[in-house]
Amino acid sequence: MQNIIIANWKMNPTTKQEAKEIFEGIKSGLEGVETEVVICPPYLYLSELSGLTIGVQNINAEDNGAYTGEISAVMLKEFGVDYIIIGHSERRKYFVETNQIINKKIKKALELGFKVIFCIGETEGERKSGLKNEVLEEQLAQGLDGVESTENITIAYEPVWAIGTGDNCSVKETKESIDHIKKLIGKEIRVIYGGSANAENAESYIKEAGANGLLVGGASLKPEEFVKIIKSAE
Ligand code: PGA
Repeated sequence: MQNIIIANWKMNPTTKQEAKEIFEGIKSGLEGVETEVVICPPYLYLSELSGLTIGVQNINAEDNGAYTGEISAVMLKEFGVDYIIIGHSERRKYFVETNQIINKKIKKALELGFKVIFCIGETEGERKSGLKNEVLEEQLAQGLDGVESTENITIAYEPVWAIGTGDNCSVKETKESIDHIKKLIGKEIRVIYGGSANAENAESYIKEAGANGLLVGGASLKPEEFVKIIKSAE
């Protein structure tokens, strides 16, 4: 299974120029790299960036209509987008995305031929209450309800408490969760880790925790560091 390293730029950077610079900086460091690399910028920069595999961070599950401020998956067909991140914890939290909404988005993305990066993970409270496995099971079961094939899905295990905090999940705990997720899915699937991944800890997730790659936020905006992360997956 080919490893995958995904950059989730979130709502960054704030100018087109910076987006191009970061993108070109990453691109120039990838000679000879075999790992799959995906950059997920804000929509506005899509037409500015080319030469690497591109993803987006969200879609609306409807094709078109009266949904002020939204972007549909159909619209993305023209923009050279291959991947769609669905169910990121920031969307679950700030935009109240339920497992049911996420399920609709996953089905729509797959129906239109996109590859899906499906994010799951427990909050700090759920972890402390010993509910981690239950939460993961529910997110997977409801998110994938009625999905016939998981062939074009990558699962991103992102403990919410580890995202953007510098408090990354231990290799041991990550391995347990990844093993649990793989067992629940029951067939070959790519499961990656996300949550304060950086150039120092990247290799241990891939080589020791059994992650098939990483979903990287903050560190993906620093080309040199991001290229190091990519190389640790080789
Ligand atoms: P982080 O974000 O690497 O900044 O923790 C990861 C993510 O939200 O996907």
